[in-house]
Amino acid sequence: MTSPMTDPNRVLLFDTTLRDGEQSPGISLNAAEKLEIAHQLARLGVDIIEAGFPASSPGDFAAVRAIAQEVHGPVICGLARAHSSDIERAADAVRDSERPRIHTFLSTSDIHIVHQLQSTREDVKGQARAAVAHARELIADVEFSPMDATRSEVEFCAEVIAIAIEEGATTINIPDTVGYATPDEFGRFLTRLYELTPGLREVVLSVHCHDDLGLAVANSLAGVQAGARQVECAVNGIGERAGNASLEEVIMLLQTRRADLGYETGAVSTEIARTSRLVSRLTGYPVQPNKAIVGRNAFAHESGIHQDGVLKERSTYEIMDARTVGLEGNDIVLGKHSGRHALRQALQELGYAVDGAALNHAFSRFKEIADVKKQVTAMDLEALVTDELREEIPAYGIEWFDVEASSRRPPHATVAVRTPEGDVVEGSFTGDGPVDAVFRAVLTATGIDARLREYRVGAVTGGEDALGEVSVVVELGSPEDAIKADLPGVLAGQRVTGAGQAVDTDIIAASATAFVRALGNAVVRAQAAHDETVAATATP
Ligand code: KIV
Ligand code: ZN
Repeated sequence: MTSPMTDPNRVLLFDTTLRDGEQSPGISLNAAEKLEIAHQLARLGVDIIEAGFPASSPGDFAAVRAIAQEVHGPVICGLARAHSSDIERAADAVRDSERPRIHTFLSTSDIHIVHQLQSTREDVKGQARAAVAHARELIADVEFSPMDATRSEVEFCAEVIAIAIEEGATTINIPDTVGYATPDEFGRFLTRLYELTPGLREVVLSVHCHDDLGLAVANSLAGVQAGARQVECAVNGIGERAGNASLEEVIMLLQTRRADLGYETGAVSTEIARTSRLVSRLTGYPVQPNKAIVGRNAFAHESGIHQDGVLKERSTYEIMDARTVGLEGNDIVLGKHSGRHALRQALQELGYAVDGAALNHAFSRFKEIADVKKQVTAMDLEALVTDELREEIPAYGIEWFDVEASSRRPPHATVAVRTPEGDVVEGSFTGDGPVDAVFRAVLTATGIDARLREYRVGAVTGGEDALGEVSVVVELGSPEDAIKADLPGVLAGQRVTGAGQAVDTDIIAASATAFVRALGNAVVRAQAAHDETVAATATP
């Protein structure tokens, strides 16, 4: 592996799954989940982890701080608007990292300056100067982004960049915020910035491309070819709207075409598949089957002609080996006779250090699964471990449920739900189907008014006895209903959603657990929205 400091062709990978990615609707990761993703990103070998936006909420601050304290290797970065309070909050959150960074941003396009900031170009220059100078007083590594750069006048963008470099910015990131640029245009924009800003050659140039026109990865490559040596991207391409450049696509593009393109990254590509599964599972965002690199069909050959070719010679229809992205080759298999020691060892091989009470708990869940499934594979264990991370305190939990399902009568369910306060409440309902009956019984038991927005069922592995994986998104009801149910966080005009996922050998049990987790997340978010509104309207 080459050193990013010495190799001019080394491209730094800046992962923003936990910041831009987390801005995708319906995603709400708890601190343990964010930490697990950050550890996996470190295993994958990314250079910089943008761990969150610390000023956005106390929860995000705590998660960024925990990642800064516990994840070693990559630079840990916190995002901040160009406000001194945001910058101080970001500095406090990342300070404990071995390699902390603040990333501050400010729009340079007239569309944003006039309509969103309701400000002037002169003011933007002053704010950018003050923000970078303030960040540099607190942390040595500072990244600056002129937001909506590609719709900015290039001369003005260059002026602002020059100010940021003068004040000590160490990385200049050029975002195609709305995913509007074409590769050719983007490359020319960067070349022009180099011409206009001599100091740009002294810092790292970075690119941050959104995928609104499906060009995020192509634009990122054009950026690298124009001189950028940092690419911002997210696992599975998640992020605002159509998402960011997909991390795995950028890695495999540079790796597969290395002989022609000549760039290097520090990625351990065999960790890609596992990273993708972890992020998909914890965010509840499924990966489309034909998604490049990590879709389940990315290495499948359906037509007879293709199968025939691959059987004769793999390279006839394959440009990458599935093993290089970690899609094959893990042969961990446990069964119902495997003991605690074997489980601990298998988890360790997968990178999870589980001991004490956590091991006991994991072992009893493993036994439940092993009783139903003949073989428990690495994929099952991964699903089990990530499922454990979802248990956040305080949370709702399913104590037990009964469902009567028949084709001759409407299904009826009774559930007992443990509330965050530790009480157990019961409810019954007759629904359209067994899962619907369970969901409605949970709402009756908890008194929460919510609507089901998304419901997805998948399988962790193939086979009849595969673990079921369920993902649910709920939206809390009207303000009046919320007030009745003592949920003051749902304010007029606000729609609060929550997502939850669960795995179980029984699909109804997985559905019920995913549903109460989604409700719990929605309630926490409603409460946070309420607290923020109260704080914003409080008179000093
Ligand atoms: O898309 C964007 O412009 C951003 C900035 C904060 C870099 O995410
Ligand atoms: Zn972005």
